[in-house]
Amino acid sequence: MRIIIEKDYEAMSKQAANIVAGQLSLKPDSVFGLATGSTPQLTYRILAGRYQTDGLDFSRATSFNLDEYVGLDEAAPDSYHYYMAANFFNLINMERSHIHIPNGMAPDLAAECCGYDQAIHQAGAIDLQILGIGNNGHIGFNEPNPSFEATTHVVHLGQETIQANSRFFSNVTKVPRYAISMGIKTIMNARRIILLANGSSKATIVAKALCGAINPEIPASILQLHPDLIVILDQEAAEQLAVQDALMF
Ligand code: GLP
Repeated sequence: MRIIIEKDYEAMSKQAANIVAGQLSLKPDSVFGLATGSTPQLTYRILAGRYQTDGLDFSRATSFNLDEYVGLDEAAPDSYHYYMAANFFNLINMERSHIHIPNGMAPDLAAECCGYDQAIHQAGAIDLQILGIGNNGHIGFNEPNPSFEATTHVVHLGQETIQANSRFFSNVTKVPRYAISMGIKTIMNARRIILLANGSSKATIVAKALCGAINPEIPASILQLHPDLIVILDQEAAEQLAVQDALMF
């Protein structure tokens, strides 16, 4: 694990964007795993800016999003389809046929999950997975005590996550109770993972996930076992880390 501590959210986002851009230069047909939430928003905006000003080329790249709510269609402003279009896909030149997001409206959700893992496999596996972390340690929508063996599946969202994510909805009753999420195994199969966290509200969970025991109660703690994990934090999110050798930029 490499931990990079940046001075603020903007510097954290630039560092993440640099790694994504570097990956694209090395392998233009890279397969990316993408996260939603507020954490990676600026990373996407920086990358979109580089496409627009420097011609950073996504045309051969492929993406798979981590998750989507069950019961929200693509046009719903709170869906992750909508978020990704607005924050990234409408602003870059990735082929629409290369973009994958679980379909939370699929009539057969089990078949949707199974097909999603097959599509990742057929694409040659994820080269670079971007992750945020939930306040309860979830990654994707893998809530506390997931099976570490799970592939893409339907999850029942916990109350803490429903409450945390209600800030994106008009009120808490509108937050779907179920979602489709890549499983821990799907995530761990990525060749490289970047975990992003900013803000003091993430400091406790970041310290538990990175420095505590590997424990299903903190799903992100499994990332300690990943052979190529880069953690990029701002100073606030890093404030409870007892890591002496973290890189400071
Ligand atoms: C959501 C997403 C996660 C994301 C997490 C943190 O629940 N499913 O993929 O990492 O929230 O969100 P934020 O970045 O807004 O703190």
